[in-house]
Amino acid sequence: SDARADYYRAVQKKAMVEILPGLKTEVMGYDGLLPGPTFDVRSGRNTVIEQVNELDVSTVVHLHGGHTPAASDGWPLDLLMPAGGQGEHEGHHAMTGGDMKMGSRTYTYPNTQRAAMLWYHDHTMDYTAPQVYRGLFGLHIVRDDEEDQLPLPTGDREIPLVIADRAFDDNGGFLYPIAKDGVGVESQYMEGVIGDVTLVNGAPWPVHEVDAVRYRLRFLNASNARRYELAFDRGPAKFVQIGSDGGLLDKPVEHKTLVIAPAERFDVIVDFSQYQPGDEVTLVNKLDGSANVMRFKVARKATDDSRIPDKLSSYAAVPEPTGLTRRQWRFRRGDAGGHKGWTINGKAFDPKVMQAQVKLDQYEVWSFVTDVHHPVHVHLAPFQVVRRGGGHPGAYDGGWKDTVDIRPAEVVDVLVKFTAHKGKYLIHCHNLEHEDMAMMAAFETI
Ligand code: C2O
Ligand code: CU
Ligand code: CU
Repeated sequence: SDARADYYRAVQKKAMVEILPGLKTEVMGYDGLLPGPTFDVRSGRNTVIEQVNELDVSTVVHLHGGHTPAASDGWPLDLLMPAGGQGEHEGHHAMTGGDMKMGSRTYTYPNTQRAAMLWYHDHTMDYTAPQVYRGLFGLHIVRDDEEDQLPLPTGDREIPLVIADRAFDDNGGFLYPIAKDGVGVESQYMEGVIGDVTLVNGAPWPVHEVDAVRYRLRFLNASNARRYELAFDRGPAKFVQIGSDGGLLDKPVEHKTLVIAPAERFDVIVDFSQYQPGDEVTLVNKLDGSANVMRFKVARKATDDSRIPDKLSSYAAVPEPTGLTRRQWRFRRGDAGGHKGWTINGKAFDPKVMQAQVKLDQYEVWSFVTDVHHPVHVHLAPFQVVRRGGGHPGAYDGGWKDTVDIRPAEVVDVLVKFTAHKGKYLIHCHNLEHEDMAMMAAFETI
């Protein structure tokens, strides 16, 4: 083994977990947890994770936002079969190839990237949505020296908040609508599966006690299909955004509310010193009648030596070069060769078809075009939004992103460059039901 690597082992298994008070929910979790264990890692140092599959279904793990060699990126057919042999969906996948393994697989993440909050999750062909829904997701936080030198809140004043909605049956089991043929989700869920219970870090509507000081809240929307507009129910707190999917912004940006689509991350500072001890402030979702997401209870005054520097990072936006290769990716509901679902450029996902060959180390402009709302995600490299709807990027488009929310009938242009790793990668909608209904395309870096 290598001194420049950290080794972990995670066992994917079923577990009975108390999520709703007094009830037990069967989850599929990494180490039986929902969310799975958080990996806190150093930029430039390898993380090697041995995944053991004790479930009765096949799985594959993808590190979302990771600059990962193709062999460890979680290609949807590089399946890890259950330790005990064939899983439920083998018949369906057996024909299609991929690097199948039995029982365990080792993933190597070089972490050759800036400090950022990434997340890992299942990426099994046609079954990502139900498997993530049941618990196969967790955080992977990369740290680096640039970020360590900033006077930001740390320790228990840095809180990752993973938001995910779920629905439950009367006994506490997850309610996920599976089609009768066992493949994917029923067509009445074309918009994706939405739940009526909001979980934050796996707990329904939690209450978190805070001191009256600044906190660093690191949001991930791990919901299958729901988007949120987060706001506080009483002033004066606002969100000072310091980072997005791909790490720190060059300088802070203030927002009254935060719109967060599936898979996006927002790294924000919230100053609770504007409240009095005893105050309670509720984080609500304005897109859902200001429904409760979680509450903060301000406990006491305390000293605070944190600050929000005017300059956060040297990794600023780059000017858009002229004369670049342009590619269009059209995300539409479609009817491609008998497939009734969602398509990219008129095609349902086919792992044998590379929709693009992309040269390493060259910027390209990619245009995302939609019919309805789609959160578009690109594997391997972050991108910079350069235009939205023909005009300037939106309020939430700052920094380097790997997922961008495209509104109905909108065109968003991004600047992207892949700097390492030749192989097969994916672009897809991160509404996970759309992804499973084939709104995914493969491209090859060369
Ligand atoms: Cu978070 Cu290809 O996915
Ligand atoms: Cu990804
Ligand atoms: Cu979509």
